[in-house]
Amino acid sequence: MFATSRDQLRQLGYMSAAVQQQPHLQPLLRKMLNCMQVIRSCVNDELRDPSKDISNVISLCRKKVDALMIEFQSVMDQDCPSAEYFEEKRKESIENDLKAVACKDPMKEKMLRDAILYLRQLEETREFHASLLSAQEDLTTYPISTYAYGTTSYLTMKSLLQLGPISQVLDNIYEDPHPDACTVFGSSTGSLVVYTALSQGIPVRGIEILPFLVDQSKKMTTRCKIDAPITFLLDDMLNVSLDNTKLLILASQCWDKDLWAKLLSKLQMINHSMVILDYTDRLSSETWCSHIATGFGAVSWNDHQEFNVYSIQQE
Ligand SMILES: C[S@@+](CC[C@H](N)C(=O)[O-])C[C@H]1O[C@@H](n2cnc3c(N)ncnc32)[C@H](O)[C@@H]1O
Repeated sequence: MFATSRDQLRQLGYMSAAVQQQPHLQPLLRKMLNCMQVIRSCVNDELRDPSKDISNVISLCRKKVDALMIEFQSVMDQDCPSAEYFEEKRKESIENDLKAVACKDPMKEKMLRDAILYLRQLEETREFHASLLSAQEDLTTYPISTYAYGTTSYLTMKSLLQLGPISQVLDNIYEDPHPDACTVFGSSTGSLVVYTALSQGIPVRGIEILPFLVDQSKKMTTRCKIDAPITFLLDDMLNVSLDNTKLLILASQCWDKDLWAKLLSKLQMINHSMVILDYTDRLSSETWCSHIATGFGAVSWNDHQEFNVYSIQQE
């Protein structure tokens, strides 16, 4: 059931991304988004209670998705790919990540490959999503959408770390390492932390608010025998000191307005130089930091995500 719904969501995700930019197709987009919402809520019902029989709703959804695929084909003059196509693409993306692995210390490359495989397999399991949903529903500090799950491929991260200003600050951290020098806010299952630490040979600290995800990050380091100076902290990013941080990664695409406003006040108080890599362009309107680079890459919710790099300059 879980896999069937996932396939339907992938097809709807593909079609909605394609019609999104076309103003005259907004009614079709709305139908697709509604259908996605119904499927997600069925999946969540089943994740909460595996004994719940959702097969009728899922087959109704299949009919709805098929009808939307026909409508999509007629207005866009292109077919929506099959479930097999998306599965093939996912396999290809994992293979490309594995081929692209490169570490400052080549002895660490096997660890990095093991971590990529481990994390990509983990997110395919029903158990992972059932426990994640329960963790998301337990924590009411922020709206549930602030805890959304998403992943960034290793290849994307590799290309972001090669952007001029980021590669400069990484060299600087390599020369003068500190456990907090590179910090990831919203570290999820630990992928960005482990990718950065192993490829660059530097310490990296991940901060994550959901206990289940911090546990998963730690489990991954043990299972994959990761030998790197990485730390996973269970905390609200608003409570964490950035005094020794030179590179801050904000996995911010799903954070709500209130959290973002409080984070801005925190960042505004920083009185040392820092480079910030963000998944949005929301810092572009701030006068206390400068936009210094843009990058693009595939993430789980978008094949061509824009990333922005900012700097805070202080004497
Ligand atoms: C979209 S996910 C991160 C995605 C991932 N890093 C990637 O590879 O794309 C954002 C994470 O931020 C976490 N988060 C939300 N609010 C937070 C807070 N106040 N402090 C720390 N982490 C938070 C969420 O629980 C979620 O795991």
